[in-house]
Amino acid sequence: MESQCLSATGSITKLSSCTILLVFLVSCLTFTSTEAYDALDPTGNITIKWDVISWTPDGYVAVVTMFNFQQYRHIQAPGWTLGWTWAKKEVIWSMVGAQATEQGDCSKYKGNVPHCCKKDPTVVDLLPGTPYNQQIANCCKGGVMQSWIQDPPNAVSSFQVSVGAAGTTNKTVRLPKNFTLKAPGPGYSCGQAKIVKPTRYLTADKRRMTQAMMTWNVTCTYSQFLAQKTPTCCVSLSSFYNDTIVNCPTCACGCENNSTNPGSCVEPDSPYLASAVAGSGKPTNSPLVQCTSHMCPVRVHWHVKLNYKEYWRVKVTVTNFNYRMNYTLWNLVVQHPNFDNLTKIFSFNYKSLTPYAGLNDTAMLWGVKFYNDLLMQAGPLGNAQSELLFRKDAATFTFEKGWAFPRRIYFNGDNCVMPPPDAYPWLPNASPRPTISLLSLVITILASLVFLLAYA
Ligand SMILES: *[C@@H]1O[C@H](CO)[C@@H](O)[C@H](O)[C@H]1NC(C)=O
Ligand SMILES: *[C@@H]1O[C@H](CO)[C@@H](O)[C@H](O)[C@H]1NC(C)=O
Ligand SMILES: *[C@@H]1O[C@H](CO)[C@@H](O)[C@H](O)[C@H]1NC(C)=O
Ligand SMILES: *[C@@H]1O[C@H](CO)[C@@H](O)[C@H](O)[C@H]1NC(C)=O
Ligand SMILES: *[C@@H]1O[C@H](CO)[C@@H](O)[C@H](O)[C@H]1NC(C)=O
Ligand SMILES: *[C@@H]1O[C@H](CO)[C@@H](O)[C@H](O)[C@H]1NC(C)=O
Ligand SMILES: *[C@@H]1O[C@H](CO)[C@@H](O)[C@H](O)[C@H]1NC(C)=O
Ligand SMILES: *[C@@H]1O[C@H](CO)[C@@H](O)[C@H](O)[C@H]1NC(C)=O
Ligand SMILES: *[C@@H]1O[C@H](CO)[C@@H](O)[C@H](O)[C@H]1NC(C)=O
Ligand SMILES: *[C@@H]1O[C@H](CO)[C@@H](O)[C@H](O)[C@H]1NC(C)=O
Repeated sequence: MESQCLSATGSITKLSSCTILLVFLVSCLTFTSTEAYDALDPTGNITIKWDVISWTPDGYVAVVTMFNFQQYRHIQAPGWTLGWTWAKKEVIWSMVGAQATEQGDCSKYKGNVPHCCKKDPTVVDLLPGTPYNQQIANCCKGGVMQSWIQDPPNAVSSFQVSVGAAGTTNKTVRLPKNFTLKAPGPGYSCGQAKIVKPTRYLTADKRRMTQAMMTWNVTCTYSQFLAQKTPTCCVSLSSFYNDTIVNCPTCACGCENNSTNPGSCVEPDSPYLASAVAGSGKPTNSPLVQCTSHMCPVRVHWHVKLNYKEYWRVKVTVTNFNYRMNYTLWNLVVQHPNFDNLTKIFSFNYKSLTPYAGLNDTAMLWGVKFYNDLLMQAGPLGNAQSELLFRKDAATFTFEKGWAFPRRIYFNGDNCVMPPPDAYPWLPNASPRPTISLLSLVITILASLVFLLAYA
């Protein structure tokens, strides 16, 4: 698409304004696919709040709380890593509920030695099972944060930090800079700390309010582009009205290639399976997938199962092909126009996501606690299934043109690779339809406009 535009612009020298318009439009179009903004969760962010709760002779004690305000993106094990750069020569005397990964050079301190003297400390959560005297509320979950829709109480993570060699009044404190959040890989970018209204606390007897000495907020947002992840999920389709099973696109998440990448996957009946799963010293978060044509760790299958007079029924199956991962509290986000009239969902939880007023075509689905909220590692138990019953809206409902298939699916916040629309199962007797995407339509129109103007 881009090369088409570039050749169009290259051949026109006279009409620079039009060329600029075209280039501008093209860059807008490319930009929308790469920016941090997520159309299904437009305000999704992780907010980090620092509450200075007391001043000390040489600094302050702050409670740092991270809120995962993202509707469906969670942070899995091995959890978050938070970093920042001190504005001056601050040190961390001590921490509760988290720890700095490196102490750094504290050689100029005698007697009491700080917990961390680095200019740019990196902090990680403590693990579950930390002794009570080293905990504070909402700490010690190994850096795991649930999504805001699935489990709000567990979408919060806190620790306490005692800072020295720092300002001791709200006028002399310098805010930390350059916040970085890894989850644990890249993907998040954080804005500057901003001083906000001090947090107010209700005392235990609920009869008195106290407040922080000072509060600042930092907001971090996720971008699939920054994460630069290869896809981790794909979609396959089938229907009762056509025998064809449309598999995930070949090489959707990688290619099986014995010559360049031996051992990139394992066959389920391989005698080496057990030893490969046990690990070969590799970090555990690198997937070990079952050999498939798509090589994705996760596949979502959408089967259009039944057609009733007023309803239609879909079966959704999530299959785990990763031998090294049990997905705890997994979730799906599915976009389909009929979600405005979902009548019943079996054995999954459901919540409608309404990113824009009036638009009600997106839903979040996740497992039922203690029943199928754990998507087990690849193997006979490595799947979760549900059926959805939709009420037909006579004005929009049709089995034609692939309407019954989802427009978009995310697994744990990551976009799943869909089969190309022209491969969708057809209704018997339906003729192949020309598929022209909106984008190519816009580009074709613009290109012909430029062409016409250039030769007018
Ligand atoms: C972060 O998310 C919260 C909750 O959705 C929202 O109120 C807030 O405006 C968001 N912040 C930014 C900077 O987008
Ligand atoms: C600092 O404290 C003073 C007095 O309590 C208050 O008036 C002022 O708004 C505070 N400034 C900030 C940045 O919190
Ligand atoms: C901010 O952090 C990044 C990565 O840690 C680093 O490359 C950059 O130089 C830092 N910027 C400042 C102003 O400290
Ligand atoms: C700062 O963050 C807290 C916690 O997320 C939030 O309640 C508050 O509204 C935020 N303040 C501003 C000005 O964004
Ligand atoms: C494997 O990779 C090599 C080198 O990139 C390539 O020539 C070959 O066609 C690939 N084989 C398969 C089956 O993809
Ligand atoms: C890779 O090797 C396995 C077993 O050695 C074989 O079954 C499979 O077909 C090979 N795949 C390719 C693409 O050559
Ligand atoms: C997944 O859970 C099962 C049962 O609890 C356990 O036996 C298995 O080792 C786990 N797999 C991984 C990769 O953690
Ligand atoms: C969206 O659809 C769901 C399920 O039918 C319904 O519960 C919800 O109220 C709808 N929301 C809006 C904004 O229409
Ligand atoms: C759901 O379907 C019924 C019957 O077709 C219709 O009256 C109703 O408006 C639909 N609801 C939505 C939110 O579209
Ligand atoms: C089923 O759909 C496929 C496209 O995926 C098409 O090639 C085939 O002809 C269809 N079968 C029938 C019986 O219409």
